Amino acid sequence: MKKIAIFGSTGSIGESTLNIIRENPDLFSAITLVAGKNIQKLRNQIEEFKPKNIYIIEQKNAIKLKEEYPYLNVFYGQEGMEKISKLTDFDIGVSALVGIAGLKPTYNMIKNGKTVALANKEVLVAGGELIMNTAKQNNATLLTVDSEHSAIMQCLQGEKQNPIDKILLTASGGPFFDKEITDEITVEQALNHPTWKMGPKVTIDSSTMMNKGFEVIEAKWLFDVNPEQIQVVVHRKSIVHSMVQFKDGTIMANLGPKSMQIPIAYALNYPNRLINHIEKIDLFDIKTLTFEKPNLEKFQCLKLAFEAIQKGHSYQVVLNAANEVLVDAFLNKKITYMQIPKGIQKMLATHKLTKLNTVEEILALDKKIKEETKKMIEN
Ligand SMILES: NC(=O)c1ccc[n+]([C@@H]2O[C@H](COP(=O)([O-])OP(=O)(O)OC[C@H]3O[C@@H](n4cnc5c(N)ncnc54)[C@H](OP(=O)(O)O)[C@@H]3O)[C@@H](O)[C@H]2O)c1
Repeated sequence: MKKIAIFGSTGSIGESTLNIIRENPDLFSAITLVAGKNIQKLRNQIEEFKPKNIYIIEQKNAIKLKEEYPYLNVFYGQEGMEKISKLTDFDIGVSALVGIAGLKPTYNMIKNGKTVALANKEVLVAGGELIMNTAKQNNATLLTVDSEHSAIMQCLQGEKQNPIDKILLTASGGPFFDKEITDEITVEQALNHPTWKMGPKVTIDSSTMMNKGFEVIEAKWLFDVNPEQIQVVVHRKSIVHSMVQFKDGTIMANLGPKSMQIPIAYALNYPNRLINHIEKIDLFDIKTLTFEKPNLEKFQCLKLAFEAIQKGHSYQVVLNAANEVLVDAFLNKKITYMQIPKGIQKMLATHKLTKLNTVEEILALDKKIKEETKKMIEN
C-alpha cells in the first residue's frame, strides 16, 4: 500500500488523484491532504479518506478542523506549509498546488529524497535547475503527471541509448485558436476550454498558450534537451499527448483518452499501468488527426515565453510571477484579456538578468515582480 501526500487535494489534479485512490483502496491511501481555502471540500475528503495530516491556509479554519477531528495533525500558514512538506511519512508526494506556492513544498520533498509526482508547472518554470540538481543530489525521483510530459516520458521508455532529435510537444490550441483574440474576450469564454477540464489559472494559461510556454521550459529540464529541440505542435483533438522524434527519423507517439487520471495513475503506480473504467478511444470514430504550427504573433504569451527562455533563468521567474498576477486580475475582471501579454511584456522589458541560486532568492524575485505588477495594474 503506497501512502500518498496530496498538495492541492481540493483542486482539479487533487480530486483526480483522490478518484484513483478511491478506485484502488488496496493500492493507495491518502496520508496527507493539503488544501488552500476550501474548508468544506477538505472536510468531505477527511471524512472519506481518513488522512493523518492536513493543511489549510487560515489559522481559524485549522482551529475548526482540529476541534472537529482532534486525532489529526493540523497545519496552517507559511510555517505549517514548511512543516507538512518536510514530513517523510509518505511514499509519493503529489505536487498539485497552483502557482509559485508549489515551489518550496516541492523543493522540501525533493530535498528529503522523496518521490514526487509533479503536476505544478510553475515549480520547474521558476526553479528548474535547482529542482533538478536537488533531486539528483538527494536521490529523489521526479515523475511528471502533466499529460504531455508523461507522454514524452513514456515515449522514452527503453530509449536511453538513442539520442533525441526533437520533442514534439502537442497543444490543443485552446478556445481561441480559430478565433480572433480581442480585448472583448470574457472570463467565461476564456474558461471554456475545448478539450480539458482544469483549474481556472491553468485554463486561462491554456487559452493564452502561456501554458505551452511553461511546458517547453518543463520539458527542457525534465528531458535534458535544448529549447531548440522542442517544437510546439497544435493538435486540436488532444488525442496525441506528445511525441519524440529520434535521430533516425522514427517518431514515437503517445495517444489516449483525455483524462488526467491516466498520467496521474501512471506516476502513482510507476512503471506499471493501472486498469481503469475510462472510455477507450476508437480510432475509427476519430478518423483524422491534424497538426499545425502555432501562430506566435497571435499567441503573444507563447512568444514571450520563448523570449524568456532565450534570455535566461531570472526572466522565466519574471514571466511566471507577472503572469500569475495578471491572470488573477483577469479572472477578477480587473484587466482585459489583452492586458495579460502586454503586462508581462512590460515586466520582462524592465528586468535585468540576475543569478538566482536558492529557493529564497527565487521567491524574493517572485515577490518583487508580483508587487510591481500589482502596482502597474493599479496605475
Ligand atoms: N488540471 C489539470 O488538468 C492540470 C494538468 C497539468 C498540470 N496542471 C498543473 O497542476 C497544478 C494544479 O492545477 P489544478 O488545475 O489542479 O489547479 P486548481 O484546481 O486551481 O487547484 C489548486 C489547488 O491548490 C490549492 N492551493 C492553491 N494555493 C494554495 C496555497 N497557497 N496553499 C495551499 N493550497 C493552495 C487549492 O486549494 P483550494 O481550492 O482549497 O483553495 C487547490 O487544492 C497547476 O500548476 C497546473 O498548471 C494541471
